Amino acid sequence: MERVQAIASMSKEQIPKEFIRSDHEQPGITTVKGKILEVPVIDLNDEDDAKVLNLIIEASREWGMFQIVNHGIPSDVTKRFQDVGRQFFELPQEEKEVYAKPPGAQAIEGYGTALQKEMEGKKAWVDHLFHKVWPPSVINYMFWPKNPPSYREANEEYVKYLHGVVNQLFKSLSLGLGLQEQELKESIGGDELVYLLKINYYPPCPLPDLVLGVPPHTDMSCITILVPNDVQGLQANRDGNWYDIKYIPDALIIHIGDQMEIVSNGRYKKVLHRSIVNEVKTRMSWPVFLEPPSKLEVGPHPKLVNEENPAKYETKKYSDYVYCKLNKIPQ
Ligand code: SIN
Ligand code: FE2
Repeated sequence: MERVQAIASMSKEQIPKEFIRSDHEQPGITTVKGKILEVPVIDLNDEDDAKVLNLIIEASREWGMFQIVNHGIPSDVTKRFQDVGRQFFELPQEEKEVYAKPPGAQAIEGYGTALQKEMEGKKAWVDHLFHKVWPPSVINYMFWPKNPPSYREANEEYVKYLHGVVNQLFKSLSLGLGLQEQELKESIGGDELVYLLKINYYPPCPLPDLVLGVPPHTDMSCITILVPNDVQGLQANRDGNWYDIKYIPDALIIHIGDQMEIVSNGRYKKVLHRSIVNEVKTRMSWPVFLEPPSKLEVGPHPKLVNEENPAKYETKKYSDYVYCKLNKIPQ
């Protein structure tokens, strides 16, 4: 398996043709230039709790994406979490391969390069590492790098602070559906909600206008909480057009994912997004996907379905949902 990082280190001017997108996908052609999409930026430390609540609800209904600032995760905690992830990717290739996703494994965890069949058979300019970070009962430490030695501690520290953000988002979104504070989270797993970390590593690319990092998709999760490095690259689709999302130091980017759209019976909207890469700098991002436990049946919340509001989505086991989506089985 050839890693993009290895290909990039040999590609100083040209790149293998399977990375080159057709015209309708190339970011150089399809990005709206000179305009940053102003998705809502929400200050969680604002004294006016009702205002914060409404901003979260509205952003989740109208955009499916927003950024949060003053979220309570200290910047040095985030920085250490990012540093250890970057240091892992800077290890020699053979050290990283120790954590490679076993070939043919059903589960997603491990170091890898997207194998997923893409339209037109194109490849994405990105390598990744996936592992669960919460709850302790589902963690597989075999996929957590031993090097750098502080990897585990830095991840645990970040996750410790992340709980506060997770709970505030779920509470707000629950109230926004007319449910009690705890009801939404309870309905998608409660304390068994899984936090799945992905680290995206996008090496520099000599022809960034022709390739994509992660191709257009919506996240399968309920909510995704993402922190990028300082290299611009996330794009969102709005009314059929692609726009850059502004990089804000210390902000977290929130995506509404498929499961949240389903549970809310369509009141909250998943967001279509993709990422692009840089000519000279390495871009990285650290999304944490908040997912239902794999055996849980997920469908529109019973309290949101009645005669006037029939269920708009099927109820299915989360693992079946994932299987169908990864294998492009219509659902
Ligand atoms: C993704 O959505 O999978 C990647 C987004 C990013 O790197 O910013
Ligand atoms: Fe995503």
